[in-house]
Amino acid sequence: MKNILTEQEVQQLRAETRGTTKTIHFNNAGSSLPPDVVVDTVINYLHEEAQNGGYETEYTYRDELENTYSFIAQLINAHKDEIAVVENASTGWWLAFNGIDFKPGDEIITCEMEYVTNLIGLLHAQKTYGVVFKVIPNDDRGNFQPQALEDAITNRTKLIAATHIPSTAGYMMPVVEIGKIARRHNILYLLDACQSAGHVPLDVQEIGCDMLAVTGRKYLRAPRGTGFLYVRKAVQDKLKLFFMDGFTTQWVTETDFKPRSDARRFEVYEKSRALTLGLGKAVEYALDIGIERAWQRVQYLANLLREKLKEVTGITVHDFGDQLCGIVTFSVEKRDGTAVKNKLAEKHINVSVGKAASTLIYMNKNHLNNIVRASVHYYNTEQEIELLCVALREIV
Ligand SMILES: Cc1ncc(COP(=O)(O)O)c(C=O)c1O
Repeated sequence: MKNILTEQEVQQLRAETRGTTKTIHFNNAGSSLPPDVVVDTVINYLHEEAQNGGYETEYTYRDELENTYSFIAQLINAHKDEIAVVENASTGWWLAFNGIDFKPGDEIITCEMEYVTNLIGLLHAQKTYGVVFKVIPNDDRGNFQPQALEDAITNRTKLIAATHIPSTAGYMMPVVEIGKIARRHNILYLLDACQSAGHVPLDVQEIGCDMLAVTGRKYLRAPRGTGFLYVRKAVQDKLKLFFMDGFTTQWVTETDFKPRSDARRFEVYEKSRALTLGLGKAVEYALDIGIERAWQRVQYLANLLREKLKEVTGITVHDFGDQLCGIVTFSVEKRDGTAVKNKLAEKHINVSVGKAASTLIYMNKNHLNNIVRASVHYYNTEQEIELLCVALREIV
């Protein structure tokens, strides 16, 4: 393992995160502990708005607000004109997905690990537009087979929709392989990168996706209520718009208008500038650490946690497949996931419960319900993992 964060750096990053002093936080796939600088950025901005006025503060911070787009673009190797700042991943995904001009009989191909919002979106499109969608199951070893995707493509396939890292499993989809197939067949490719941004390196050129939806509060450590949508330049004009205002569209004449020439056409004018700035600060913070380095540490900690959990009698780790990530899922014999979570919370250890509904097809197929999800971030430590395992032994 190369270029991993040093112990000293980890301690420094923890010192910059006030939450780490009181809480052992293994719910980074729910919402990470934000760095202090992100929290302070938002609060200070709100104070300035109260002091000087909203529009006036926005003018003062115009460059910093603009930088949010540049940092996001840098994070995913896009152009800032391809970024829309939205409230969360679901909003981004729906704007992209429902922007597509579906016709009856069009086909969508997705994977078994697709997130609830997206699956509901697909079902909705089936009922509304008469599209057909196909789910490519993972193989017995838990791996997505790109060949099965390629075999499922017909001349009616309009979209490939995939979730990079699912909500309730530690597996990662081979998104670059999927992108190569999408490009080869000239099919739109929408990627849910909600769990992967800030977690693993993301490069939209390498992945070859046309649209990518992300939330801020998870591995990016941004405030809640933030997210972004990437839409490749060449695809922007192909998507329908749902909201229009004087910011997203411009007058051509008194009787005609046209959308902005960038991805901000998918936004609306009024939004929290404080949160936009907080999102930008979180992305800048992640870039400063280096996503590749963060990813190395996340993998190290997640593998360590899985190994330690396997040593605890009565615990079953559920993650499988060749490429695993920072999400670790398990069950405790004869204990409901929520009961385990609540017991751990008494010791100030945060985990979450992965419900079947979140990743319905995968969970049903593997007969899983209410699993415990412990998601590690680079700021977690070996000692915290040890304490989690001690607490779990007591519960068992
Ligand atoms: C894989 C995945 N996609 C999408 C979402 C939705 O994100 P948001 O709540 O920001 O809309 C989640 C949330 O947990 C998720 O895990």
